[in-house]
Amino acid sequence: MDQSTPAVPQAVTAPLSRAAIFLVVTLSPGSDSRTAMRALCADMAGLVRTVGFRDVEAGLSCIMGFGSEAWDRLFGSPRPAELHPFREFHAGPRHAPATPGDVLFHIRAKRMDLCFELAMQIAANLGDAAVAVDEVHGFRYFDDRDLMGFVDGTENPSGQLAADSTLIGAEDAAFAGGSYVIVQKYLHNLQAWNALSTEKQELIIGRRKLSDVELDEATKPTCAHSALTVIEENGKEVKILRDNMPFGSVAKGEFGTYFIGYSRSPRTVEQMLENMFIGRPAGNYDRILDFSTAVTGCLFFVPTATFLDNVADAPAAEAPAVATDPPPPHASDAPSGGSLGIGSLKGQPNE
Ligand code: HEM
Repeated sequence: MDQSTPAVPQAVTAPLSRAAIFLVVTLSPGSDSRTAMRALCADMAGLVRTVGFRDVEAGLSCIMGFGSEAWDRLFGSPRPAELHPFREFHAGPRHAPATPGDVLFHIRAKRMDLCFELAMQIAANLGDAAVAVDEVHGFRYFDDRDLMGFVDGTENPSGQLAADSTLIGAEDAAFAGGSYVIVQKYLHNLQAWNALSTEKQELIIGRRKLSDVELDEATKPTCAHSALTVIEENGKEVKILRDNMPFGSVAKGEFGTYFIGYSRSPRTVEQMLENMFIGRPAGNYDRILDFSTAVTGCLFFVPTATFLDNVADAPAAEAPAVATDPPPPHASDAPSGGSLGIGSLKGQPNE
């Protein structure tokens, strides 16, 4: 790659979309899986162009992120400075679990059919090389509300601030233009939540429900969600970029928020999680968690689009010696088989 041309980031700062698919896969054992995933990296831009061209206005995009173990297996060294497995948080009944996930596909468009078509193409490309361990179809709910009824996304940075908040710079020059992303699937107890008065809900979130106006300092408790998730370093607020989406199933009684947060360093989101689950100070935790349970948790590195384009060109010799071994188990409480039991990308049942 020409070192004088800055690498082009993936579509991290693309505008929030009406529809999204969050697809998390684990790599199957064996070197063929590695070869197939690397080939997909190089083909991804073309695949998005092909599907997206059928309705350019719909703005189809797909971001690929790689977990810590998958990075070593797929790309070896060098590795992004802050890439590590998802850090769990535990406090009383509150738990942010780490769950399996080697590669994330964050697919966005104005139309779900385009997202779905791309997901199918990805699955067809990968075949047996990967197993889908989680798939969530997110939708926009009225004026960008979550299923708890609050507008979600208001304080997101935009423009240059969004880029500065999410894209790595000189601090890890070899990976400049990349990002970190943390995803968590939350399930809500909507019956209990809806039994609260609107005023109590507003104190938990820290904003007015109808107007979305932030509560004034005198009214907003220090445990409000929008207080605990404000992080300052050296007197300056450090932002992240969220593209949370509601999802659910009436038949299963499942109502959730898929949290996805892009940041320049995973430390920022980890600090937010610590504040939410453990509390700032300890015990002063986020009451959203009395009504919402995190059921997944993964950290991925998002390399630049330029990096992905060039993957297939890299000599195979760069692979570490462990390339053909199955990845070690991810987290102590991960379901056996490194899968949530959803099935392989070919639609066959899990072993
Ligand atoms: C149950 C899952 C969650 C729900 C329903 C939720 C909902 C909300 C809502 C309604 C707001 C206020 C409007 C806005 O600025 O977007 C908000 C703000 C925010 N949330 Fe969450 N959120 C969830 C999880 C998380 C997690 C896990 C994090 C980070 C680890 C996070 C980080 C933030 C941040 C940074 C803000 C903006 C705070 C500010 O600057 O005022 N959220 N969230």
